[in-house]
Amino acid sequence: MKKQTSILLATVVALGMFASTANADIKKGQKAYLKQCKKCHGSGTKGAAMKTQDEWTAAFADDNAGFIAWHKGTKGEKYAEGKKFKKYSEHLKDFLFEYASDSGNVPSC
Ligand code: HEC
Repeated sequence: MKKQTSILLATVVALGMFASTANADIKKGQKAYLKQCKKCHGSGTKGAAMKTQDEWTAAFADDNAGFIAWHKGTKGEKYAEGKKFKKYSEHLKDFLFEYASDSGNVPSC
């Protein structure tokens, strides 16, 4: 019984640590969104709500192939294929997923 309690405690602590690192990435993603996407897509609320969580996940799978495809042939093409997007794509994904249209969350930006 005691052992179980300590395992449970360890799990809670581990989960807490996991949640705070995930949060840090969401913040980084939000910053990157404001710097990189806002000029074309408006506020973070609007931007993240363009897609559902499943759609964001799919867009960032396979080296961001879906995201790049959305921007093919548009003024966003150079950006989507560029280094800056690639460098921040993990964080952007965290932010966009967190605030997707079906997430129930609304960012303050
Ligand atoms: C230079 C301008 C530009 C930048 C920067 C840019 N986009 Fe786009 N994006 C476009 C254009 C143009 C389209 C295609 C037309 C449209 O749907 O608005 C598009 C399409 C999209 C779509 C598909 C919309 C749909 O209706 O299916 C999503 C989602 C999207 N962009 C998200 C982002 C995100 C997130 C970022 C930043 C990581 C970003 N874009 C950066 C210009 C840009």
